[in-house]
Amino acid sequence: MSGRRTLIAGGTLVSSTATTPTDVLVEDERVVALLAPGTEITADERIDATGCYVLPGGVDVHTHMEMPFGGTEASDTFETGTRAAAFGGTTTIVDFVVQRAGEVVERALETWHTKAAGNCAIDYGFHMILGGVDEDSLKAMDSLVAHEGISSFKLFMAYPGVFYSDDGQILRAMQRATDNGATIMMHAENGIAIDVLVQQALAAGDTDPVYHGLTRPAELEAEAVNRAIALAKVAGGTPLYVVHVSASQALERIAAERTTGANVFAETCPQYLYLTLEDHLGAPGFEGAKYACSTPLRSKHERHAADLWQGLRTDDLAVVSTDHCPFCFNDQKQLGLGDFSKIPNGMGGVEHRMDLVHQGVVDGKLSLQRWVETCSTTPARMFGMYPRKGSVAPGSDADIVIYDPTATTRISAQTHHMNVDYSAFEGFELTGGVRTVMSRGRVIVDRGTYSGTTSHGQFVRRGLSQYLR
Ligand code: URP
Ligand code: ZN
Ligand code: ZN
Repeated sequence: MSGRRTLIAGGTLVSSTATTPTDVLVEDERVVALLAPGTEITADERIDATGCYVLPGGVDVHTHMEMPFGGTEASDTFETGTRAAAFGGTTTIVDFVVQRAGEVVERALETWHTKAAGNCAIDYGFHMILGGVDEDSLKAMDSLVAHEGISSFKLFMAYPGVFYSDDGQILRAMQRATDNGATIMMHAENGIAIDVLVQQALAAGDTDPVYHGLTRPAELEAEAVNRAIALAKVAGGTPLYVVHVSASQALERIAAERTTGANVFAETCPQYLYLTLEDHLGAPGFEGAKYACSTPLRSKHERHAADLWQGLRTDDLAVVSTDHCPFCFNDQKQLGLGDFSKIPNGMGGVEHRMDLVHQGVVDGKLSLQRWVETCSTTPARMFGMYPRKGSVAPGSDADIVIYDPTATTRISAQTHHMNVDYSAFEGFELTGGVRTVMSRGRVIVDRGTYSGTTSHGQFVRRGLSQYLR
């Protein structure tokens, strides 16, 4: 490396614990010093951050780039999705490798390395979806943790016949994780009961997108969370991370368990903080298909979104991820015309997480530090990447966002960079915006112009969760 130095001067450094005027010195790929504002120092380049926040790049630990799902494939590739993430101030993603029943875990991992290598604008790690828990995949868990930098495994209590694991399989995977230190990520919805409700709805002629939500009631999310917690306890205290929490009742169960000191953690996503069953999934005609995701959007007549914001404040929800899994409305979402159960589940959001959660700061729902904590520092810690990621401190990767709190961000499919033909947040006008994004010391976005390359993003080998008690 060349010893090239960049000084980011005049900004206010926001970390998970403090907001302090600070100059940041970067040398090559790393942060090398935090300096009092105005410190005289020689540098090859000086970036003026006056009036802006300087924060660790966003870490989105739940994305599905080019994921085969619902009879089609998520429309963002690693190339398009990571570039869009960069525009939105996210500098690391952790994406999901998919292993299906009967497939060899190590082969699935190779496939995902091939998809991602040389195609990412930002750094990336992998979780492993275990769609088939058997002797071979259980064994593979140990070697992935020990040798491959993959320390988290997603199991599904939903989607029977696709990714579903029964309670016995879940228990066995959890026991293995208790032994090797891995985290079990849980898609907590009672898929067997949901499938009954889906069949009943279709038989009654209830085929519109809103029935996607009505057949996945909050009680069946809470029930599954409860069962996952019980199984993790029986398995010896397995670290459990509940993904895409949307229901108050599920959060309540997580919060209660956390008061006992258990290793139970959870995330939510911007769609559950802003979008609702009635206004979005229940939009006229087939429009609602744009908003079909699982867990589903919840009713605006209940307290879900308010409770989720509160959970983020109290740390019962530790992380905001996106569950970025976009499908185009034309051709892909339309697979479910006349049958909501055939709508590919998921929506895109990797580009807008930082702005949407920052709006929570503007609206007085979250502190500035908590924004950074839930979107960068905690996800990095939760999944074994801290302090390399999630921190602006000497020794950390220089993944840095310069964020203008006075800018206005208007979200639209006309202007976004994700490879999807609509935006779930179309027309949102947000206060604040990403100005400059640095990934491992290199400016990749500045004032709306991209200067990154697909050869820049590197695979991040992760350690164990740093929250284990
Ligand atoms: O609807 C969703 N969430 N699609 C992506 C797959 C998953 O369950 O996370
Ligand atoms: Zn899921
Ligand atoms: Zn997901």
